[in-house]
Amino acid sequence: MAQKNKHHQEINMKEFFGLILLTLVLLAAIALASKHANAGSKSRQLTQPLPVYQTECGSCHLAYPPAFLPKSSWEQLMSTLSKHYGTDASIDAKSNHQINQWLTQYGGSYKRVKESPPENRITKSAWFERKHRKVKTSDFMKPSVKSPANCAACHQRAEQGLFDDDDVRIPD
Ligand code: HEC
Ligand code: HEC
Repeated sequence: MAQKNKHHQEINMKEFFGLILLTLVLLAAIALASKHANAGSKSRQLTQPLPVYQTECGSCHLAYPPAFLPKSSWEQLMSTLSKHYGTDASIDAKSNHQINQWLTQYGGSYKRVKESPPENRITKSAWFERKHRKVKTSDFMKPSVKSPANCAACHQRAEQGLFDDDDVRIPD
């Protein structure tokens, strides 16, 4: 009888420590998973597309990432759409409001994006000129590129908001 009880206790101790170990492993896994999820959502926040922005502002050119212009520039652009770089890009008031809110929420978060560049152009920003100082003017003017504003001609993953050096190729 005593023998049997001892056996029982041993099993219980094993199970007990087993459970503690399992709990610790699970807690560690949860901590790791939530850390990853947070990092992911943080980086995605900047590129998470707003569907109405993609349709209204991505039809004539790239739907430029909000991070590349300061909030003040986005506000000026959104309030002067009927006179938009020589074209009329007006949209309905509701979409305008939605887009304006989203742009000013995520605007100006790229390195050294602070004051409004001339003409509220990304391509006239000091950081843009610095990053592209090795790109020849003739490359920006090629028929396959047409304009410095045509980011996607050279930045292969511009549509996904990715502008790394690794994804750049000046077309022929
Ligand atoms: C009807 C066509 C059209 C639509 C729609 C349009 N744009 Fe443009 N946009 C242009 C043209 C044309 C330019 C000048 C491009 C160039 O210089 O090569 C331009 C330029 C820009 C630039 C400056 C690019 C640079 O040189 O850095 C920004 C920023 C911009 N648009 C934002 C927007 C936003 C925001 C919307 C949506 C509300 C929008 N655009 C909708 C035609 C359009
Ligand atoms: C004619 C091709 C071309 C066009 C058009 C162009 N770029 Fe670039 N861009 C380059 C090249 C090439 C580099 C890398 C320069 C270097 O490494 O010296 C670069 C670098 C960059 C970088 C820095 C990347 C890094 O990792 O530091 C950013 C950001 C960028 N471009 C954004 C833009 C945006 C936004 C537009 C459009 C408004 C644009 N570019 C238009 C060719 C282009």
